[in-house]
Formats: sequence, C-alpha cells, structure tokens
Amino acid sequence: MDEGRGAAEPLCPSQSLSERGGAWVFDVLQYRQPARAFALRFDGRVVAYLNRCVHVPMEMDWRPGEFLDSDKRYILCATHGAAYEPGNGHCADGPCGRGRLTPIKVEERDGQVYWYPSPDIQPVPFGALAPGSPT
Ligand code: FES
Repeated sequence: MDEGRGAAEPLCPSQSLSERGGAWVFDVLQYRQPARAFALRFDGRVVAYLNRCVHVPMEMDWRPGEFLDSDKRYILCATHGAAYEPGNGHCADGPCGRGRLTPIKVEERDGQVYWYPSPDIQPVPFGALAPGSPT
C-alpha cells in the first residue's frame, strides 16, 4: 500500500539523466526543513537520495550535481571521501560506517522521472523560496 506516501511529483525528463552522468538536484523539505536531494542514473536505473552524508550531515557533491567518483563507480562525499553504493545507498568505504543514504522513491515512466514524497520528505510548496535562493 501507499500509506503515508504522497502523489508522484514530476522531477525531470528521463533524457536528463544519462548513465553514470550528472545528477538532477532538487529541493525538498525534510521534517519541514529545507534540504536538497538528487537523482542519477546507475546501471540503467534512476535512484534518488537525500543529499546528506551519513558521516556529517553535509551535502556531498564535489561540484553541483556531480556525485560519482572518477571511475563512476561510487557516490563520493566531497568532504571526507565516504563512498556509497549508488544502487542502494549503503556505505562502501570511508567514514560512513554502516550507514546508508536516505533513499527517495523514484519512478520512471513515459519518458519522465517522478519522485514520491514520504511523511518525512515533502515537496517544497509552490511559491516558497528554495534553499539558497536569493531574496
Ligand atoms: S561529511 Fe561526508 S565523509 Fe565526512
């Protein structure tokens, strides 16, 4: 069942996510606080996570939208080098221990990627300022 899960939110066109390419970064509210999330394509599948390292709650991209290491094998945190499995978000190496990135459910259909809000992670209401937006 979909209890507690919101309606699908359009995220981006499928063609925006190339295999092991740059991520699509988007704003969300986690526990009603501004946060960022990202989606990328890995082994043909779109995956999405909160952009927050398990080691220290910091954003991980080393350039905006760039999360994968030079071999395009792991999601790499730019701060201290924690490496995560792109397919499931589990820590693979570094200071993230036995942690796991917070997954966000995504679905791809008819050339469009959607994400699903959860009780903890919600879309930013239309018209609200996004985190980091100029005032
Ligand atoms: S904050 Fe990500 S590895 Fe330390």
